Amino acid sequence: MAFTIPRGTQDILPGDSEKWQIIEAKAHDLCRRYNYKEIRTPVFEQTELFARGVGDTTDIVQKEMYEFKDRGGRSLTLRPEGTAPVVRSYVEEKMHGWVNQPVKLYYTGPMFRYERPQSGRMRQFVQFGVEALGSADPAVDAEVIALAMEFYKELGLSNLKLIINSLGDKESREAHRQALIAHFEPRIEEFCSDCQERLEKNPLRILDCKVDREHELMNDAPSILEYLNEDSKAYFAEVQEFLEAMGISYEVDATLVRGLDYYNNTAFEIMIDGEGFGAITTLAGGGRYNGLVEDIGGPETPGIGFALSIERLLMALDVQGVDLVEDQHLDVFLITMGNRAKKKAPEILHTLRREGLAADADYLGRKMKAQMKSANRQRAKSVLILGEDELEEGKVNIKNMETGEQILIALEDITAELKKLLSGKGVEKL
Ligand code: HAM
Repeated sequence: MAFTIPRGTQDILPGDSEKWQIIEAKAHDLCRRYNYKEIRTPVFEQTELFARGVGDTTDIVQKEMYEFKDRGGRSLTLRPEGTAPVVRSYVEEKMHGWVNQPVKLYYTGPMFRYERPQSGRMRQFVQFGVEALGSADPAVDAEVIALAMEFYKELGLSNLKLIINSLGDKESREAHRQALIAHFEPRIEEFCSDCQERLEKNPLRILDCKVDREHELMNDAPSILEYLNEDSKAYFAEVQEFLEAMGISYEVDATLVRGLDYYNNTAFEIMIDGEGFGAITTLAGGGRYNGLVEDIGGPETPGIGFALSIERLLMALDVQGVDLVEDQHLDVFLITMGNRAKKKAPEILHTLRREGLAADADYLGRKMKAQMKSANRQRAKSVLILGEDELEEGKVNIKNMETGEQILIALEDITAELKKLLSGKGVEKL
């Protein structure tokens, strides 16, 4: 029997894993500059956390959860997103009592959704996300959006489109909800069964329905922006002012509702324009969730965050021809001839590696010529050639692969000579 990888998952192989490392390093560096600290939560949580946190009228909870019973009969779910787990931890660890407020956190890690796999839509994907908890200042909304945009820019993406909307505070949302019910109710039987259920539970979800997207009632559905009260309007205006001050362009789209239930006030998505993306053009999404901490059993606490997947980012980089990884190389490849020289190799390599050099040698007993080929293939910047005679004299040949120059040096000078060679002209500094 041949085993195959589960649908909607992928192996990340050498050649690609370097890109992941660069992207993850960028996330860490960016969050250091914005003063967000890393949090790592488990890959699974109690199922109820997501039902309560993400919302039980969402597609994620209704159709996409990897839910299972453990041997103790508890219902657990592989996390479909990172916000509810972070908030669970915030409440459990009583982070509202921490001295530094707001609490600014970030995470990277695998998320799981049982979706129909296609390019840019996986069943296991890695999100990078941030959450800022404990401040209702619109400057934090702008900061979170700026961080997301900056991440893409610094990695070299262009043609990004930032879409923002306000879903209003509780009062505005309730007024909008009533208006939506009044709008859809008379003809709700023309909608799918999910939408019929959504009408009472969460009519906003109807606007996000993939089945009834084309229904004429969708076009003139009441816009949330018309139902914002003064506070919500002022809040939204301030977020926009901060974005403008930072030179971040955006579009307001009143139909942006997001696929999770916890949002209020600011909601945003980052899209990408251009050919080659198919149906998937949303790279990142986030927004404010001022009631979530309370819903999960904590004190009333405002929060905002966003998440993006590294898979979609890589897709976008690929389409735009952005190459993150510079040529891979070895600093030195050790070629040995004869048994005694071969026996000396581990010791020499060990020293070189401890000195910080990327060093390797032949482990397949190949002939000198094949060893040299191997060094070339791996773009070694230099090779050491150690034969029986040289070894006898305590010497080794060192060859600069860029210039072709070769000299004989003492074994004990290897590190010093290599460092000289590698930092020398024509060769990149270490
Ligand atoms: P979300 O919009 O469900 O929000 O997901 C955020 C991002 O995760 C998407 O924009 C997309 O890049 C990526 N993503 C989602 N599903 C998949 C998939 N099946 N395959 C590949 N990538 C995917 C959230 O998850 C919220 N927790 C974001 C948030 C944080 N809001 C506030 N704080």
